[in-house]
Amino acid sequence: MNDMNRFSGGHPFRRPFERVSPDQRRSLGEDVPASASPPVAETPPAAPQGEARFASPPDVPPASTRPPAPPGGFGAGSPPPGFGAGHAVPPPPVAEPAPAEPAFPQPEARAADPYEGRPTAVPAPPSFDAEPAEQPAAEARYRPIDPPAPPGGYDAEPPRPVARQPEPEAERVPEPAPAVDQSHDDEAEEAPETRSSTAHRAIGEVLQIAGSSSRALLDPKRLAECAQEADPSVQLAGLVGSQIKVRVGQIWLLASVRTQTLDRATGEIIAEIDFLGEGQEEKLTGRIRNFTRGITHYPVPGAEVFAATNADLAQVYASDGRSNIQIGKVFPTKDIRAGLYIDAMLGKHFALLGSTGTGKSTSAALILHRIVESAPEGHIMMIDPHGEYSAAFRGTGQILDVGNLKVPYWLMNFEEHCEVFVTNEGTDRQADMDILAKCLLKARAKNRMAEQMSRLTVDSPIPYLLSDLTTAIQDEMGKLDKATNTAPFLRVKTKIEEIKADPRYQFMFSGMLVADTMSEVIQRLFRMPSNGKPISIIDVSGVPSEITSTVVAMLSRMVFDFAIWGRDEKTRPILLVCEEAHRYVPNEKNADKSSVGRILSRIAKEGRKYGISLGLITQRPSDLAEGVLSQCGTILSMRLNNERDQDFVKAAMPEGARGFLDTIPALRNRECIVCGEGTAIPMRVTFDDLEERKRPASEDPSFSELWNESGGEEEAVERIVTRWRAQHR
Ligand SMILES: Nc1ncnc2c1ncn2[C@@H]1O[C@H](COP(=O)(O)OP(=O)(O)OP(=O)(O)O)[C@@H](O)[C@H]1O
Ligand SMILES: [Mg+2]
Repeated sequence: MNDMNRFSGGHPFRRPFERVSPDQRRSLGEDVPASASPPVAETPPAAPQGEARFASPPDVPPASTRPPAPPGGFGAGSPPPGFGAGHAVPPPPVAEPAPAEPAFPQPEARAADPYEGRPTAVPAPPSFDAEPAEQPAAEARYRPIDPPAPPGGYDAEPPRPVARQPEPEAERVPEPAPAVDQSHDDEAEEAPETRSSTAHRAIGEVLQIAGSSSRALLDPKRLAECAQEADPSVQLAGLVGSQIKVRVGQIWLLASVRTQTLDRATGEIIAEIDFLGEGQEEKLTGRIRNFTRGITHYPVPGAEVFAATNADLAQVYASDGRSNIQIGKVFPTKDIRAGLYIDAMLGKHFALLGSTGTGKSTSAALILHRIVESAPEGHIMMIDPHGEYSAAFRGTGQILDVGNLKVPYWLMNFEEHCEVFVTNEGTDRQADMDILAKCLLKARAKNRMAEQMSRLTVDSPIPYLLSDLTTAIQDEMGKLDKATNTAPFLRVKTKIEEIKADPRYQFMFSGMLVADTMSEVIQRLFRMPSNGKPISIIDVSGVPSEITSTVVAMLSRMVFDFAIWGRDEKTRPILLVCEEAHRYVPNEKNADKSSVGRILSRIAKEGRKYGISLGLITQRPSDLAEGVLSQCGTILSMRLNNERDQDFVKAAMPEGARGFLDTIPALRNRECIVCGEGTAIPMRVTFDDLEERKRPASEDPSFSELWNESGGEEEAVERIVTRWRAQHR
């Protein structure tokens, strides 16, 4: 059964643009060029009989009747492709100068939007993407990433506009594009020519609406036609991972396609779709505007399904004015910038996942660079287990490695002391710990600072001498009667002396570190003040492996304690980024006894309340401790080859993103799926090319090149041996 009329039929909401005269449009406050040709002449030709099946609802206005594209509002400064009609695009309005307000909607312009308070009265919301074409590139490069905040801040309750009144003239003036960084948009191409576009014709109809698994029937013939289109978004219409739109009255719903199945009986394609959000129909062009996440109006089966165009996606992915960073381009478009909202992303932690070599470290560097560009007074601490990031942040980061880290041992709490000094894993470990606790308290109490303190505990970060600690152990041992076993005392004392003498541990256990430098250490680690280097890169690659997790635990705990004790001070938020996070927050199966997992899990759960943001980077999400990933409000997933990892990520991601998630194994390098708080709706992003000098030192070695070169091998080996012996790079 192949009922060809199933998708046909007119639309009660269709607005016959061809009947709107230029005068009428002028009275609507629209900018109509004097030379506007009679609308009749521009009317698109009627669809031939055979194509009536997916009849077009939104007639395309002639270009001369469309509102001029707001500069930058629809893409890379070029006219947005509409619903198929190819008409000359009117020049941008010269007579009406751009308003002097910030580029994103003012509170006054914000609507009584029931979902997110998005603007409704503005022709196009500010976008993440390009500047007006006439903007000189050099100038654009130096403009701030974000326009200034609107008066009253973003949170100020906007006055509610009078509903459905003709929009005032001022609000119809196309807004200037937000000041965005253009330097990464070199590849931006002109919006594709859509002269012969068929995007205005339906590609199918909704078959079933059932909560999380709605289905649509797609016409393979129409999909084949769409594949010939110039518009990259239309080209992919209906395919798995693509976006489609469904009309419900004057609302457009955006959905992503999760699966496709061929119905052999009818030759049609049944697609499972996930609804992402909805927007209103732009009166004159039929495009989506004021897009918001979530669905309030479900369609009924039989509703027509259309291809989402580049112009639609430009609106959907446009910035809503919140502070954002741009990381790449929205797939499949060639010009729509992908943005992440900084506050939303950092407020609820983020995770960057992907199999080895997919580009995690480079993408992490790119994200941090962009954050630092937009917030140069930030406080970011990055745990770098491979020493990769020092190359990327020479200019903006304070590189701290074993040579200059200088974190005093006495900053460790009791648990961390035990990890270093108590080696006994047997049943009598507790005895060793009790000895250490008693003697550590004695050693700390010797400090003059302790005299003025009413409460001194083993965890108090009070400087003490390692020799005082060993003396205290010796004294305790002397008090024993002859029958008592001295082995636990000797074990602890020997370990302390061993570590004190080991040059590899000097970055932490040097006798020089006894002075009270706690404030300086904190200022240096957390970049307070940032002094132009808001990131501290903690290169732990040179730290002896048996103590690495303790060092990471100690630094992470210091972030947490600092935030807790600084609560009344309104100290600034800190971002803690952890590479190879599965090492430090492992699941139960891989867990050792280290405290680092506990402190990072605690930060994941409670950090938000204290202004700590966690950024976890890992190639093994399934090896992360349970619950940690779901604490991450924003997940950026690059390609994951392992099925277990894929399932783990899917479980942590919101339902609506499922259509995108299924493409995770098929992503190319430098591509990721972003979903969660940091983005309005899930998106597939192609990361920008990061300049070489900003990349981490994680370049893939070129075997073919290096294995064709020779010379200097002996000297190189000598140098390596020297460094190896000296245990110093
Ligand atoms: N945005 C980008 N711009 C330029 N080069 C990139 C980008 N993303 C990745 N690359 C290149 O891809 C290669 C691998 O990237 P990277 O080291 O970041 O991967 P990774 O996922 O961190 O790998 P691993 O899991 O082994 O640490 C590098 O040579 C890097 O230069
Ligand atoms: Mg890496």
